[in-house]
Amino acid sequence: MDITAIYPGSFDPATLGHLDIIERASKLFARVVVAISESSNTKRFAFPEEKRLEMLEKIVKPFPNVSVTTFGGLLTSFARSRGSAVLVRGLRAISDFEYEFQMASMNRYLAQEIETVFMMTSPKYHYLSSSIVKEIARLQGDISGLVPPELFEDVRACFPGP
Ligand code: COA
Repeated sequence: MDITAIYPGSFDPATLGHLDIIERASKLFARVVVAISESSNTKRFAFPEEKRLEMLEKIVKPFPNVSVTTFGGLLTSFARSRGSAVLVRGLRAISDFEYEFQMASMNRYLAQEIETVFMMTSPKYHYLSSSIVKEIARLQGDISGLVPPELFEDVRACFPGP
């Protein structure tokens, strides 16, 4: 089937865990649109929207059927505007479930035709989150096993040492 999937998130910054989901989704769907949330009412972003876009564009280069864009407003409206009926989300642990369940249920309420597909994050990335990456970078720790090499400089530049 010719399916366009949307992979939404804040990607502040994108990690190897996100890249793992992008790569696997690119094999399952005809097209994957990585959709960067422009704003959040719960998170203050360390990286501006344009920077998050630039960083993701760098790491999706190897995947010809993956594109990146930003979106504002409701995710379901964005998905509809792209003619997509599939949202992809990565699940890391039981602790993600409640939040993801609520979000998928609300998106289902808003748009019955849109399906959320969950992919288990690879075990080696279960411990990973964008917040952890920022914490390690802020404390000048080694981020090399956490974010794609193309992003080392961008992440380090955001957290210059003392
Ligand atoms: N590997 C490692 N970490 C992962 C991961 C993976 N595969 N998948 C997610 N994460 C981490 C992220 O790094 C992030 O970490 P952080 O909390 O430390 O920043 C966390 O899991 C969840 O982030 P993310 O997947 O980026 O989702 P989000 O909760 O920040 O964004 C949106 C959620 C953007 C999809 C949601 O807010 C949304 O749809 N907004 C639009 C408005 C809307 O429609 N609202 C109604 C929806 S119910």
